[in-house]
Amino acid sequence: MTERLRHFASDNEAGIHPQILAAIVAANSGHAPSYGADPWTQKLLARFAELFGADTQAYPVFNGTAANVLSVAGVIEPHQAVVCAATSHINHDECGAVERFTGCRVLTLQVAAGKIEPTSLQQIGAGHGPPHQSQPRVLSITQASELGTVYTPEEVRLLADAAHDRGWLLHMDGARLANAAAALDLPLRAVTRDAGVDLLSFGGTKCGLLAGEVVLVFTEGLAPRMPYARKQGLQLASKMRFLSAQFLALLDDDLWRHMAQHANAMAQRLHDAIRGLPGVEICYPPQSNAVFARLPAAAIERLRSQWRMAMWDAAAGEVRMMAAWDTTADDVDDLAAAIHTALLAD
Ligand SMILES: Cc1ncc(COP(=O)(O)O)c(C=O)c1O
Repeated sequence: MTERLRHFASDNEAGIHPQILAAIVAANSGHAPSYGADPWTQKLLARFAELFGADTQAYPVFNGTAANVLSVAGVIEPHQAVVCAATSHINHDECGAVERFTGCRVLTLQVAAGKIEPTSLQQIGAGHGPPHQSQPRVLSITQASELGTVYTPEEVRLLADAAHDRGWLLHMDGARLANAAAALDLPLRAVTRDAGVDLLSFGGTKCGLLAGEVVLVFTEGLAPRMPYARKQGLQLASKMRFLSAQFLALLDDDLWRHMAQHANAMAQRLHDAIRGLPGVEICYPPQSNAVFARLPAAAIERLRSQWRMAMWDAAAGEVRMMAAWDTTADDVDDLAAAIHTALLAD
């Protein structure tokens, strides 16, 4: 494979944003109280309270799977279930972590373009009566979705109402919430708490952090088990100041928005450059920082000898090309030209 600095396999492949790295370095001075009693974490909790409401509780953790598992673990009993899209990370890409850690089931919905709709919930059916079936308790949606699509606040609200009417809670896997909020040009709160979300996995890693996500709980008393679940779940950082310092930098002057806007714009640029090419079929509207396309198998093989991209569905010839905060317009133009050449060689 040609030596390239940047590829399109995942936004996880990007490095640390210089301002985030500088924040880690700045926090690296002297001793500080551990396990979240440090000034950075205290400031971060106050910042989240400012952004999302005074009763918001925030729990920094190391990674996104943990944020999802702990969001659920904080509110669920073993006889209950999480309802989510079959395509969701929580179902498809977490190796059954929710089931293992909580003992509850994950019930999946077949959905189009990665997004659950209120009518999708009918798939759960009326058979879910006690005591023979697991009882749904949490509806989990992903924003932006695993297929790069974005829920509008109105769509989130409809799902929140549908969940709450059934006595369930609404969790949002916001590993790419920054990309969604940037795409919608809305504040973080408008697409989460104000739209009815109860529990949020707020992502940082895909937005230029070294590592770090935060579980946000929007209702006081909703998840009293959370502090203990985080410890038992091996996610209570003793040197929490370094997680918190990164998030403070990310939230400062809406750095997240600038980074996510840029990644989204790079995906849009790629989409615009390749959508008309014969042999390219765009699979989903590119609403955030990913482009999904179907290409002939031979073209995929040629491309993947030079570029890393995710083989999303080998049978369908579907690849995912994902832009990150550091993707440049030249990277995009080079990839678009390579796609063009790979198609012509057929
Ligand atoms: C939608 C979504 N949720 C959560 C995660 C978090 O994953 P990890 O545990 O690797 O940080 C990812 C990472 O790819 C993701 O794409």
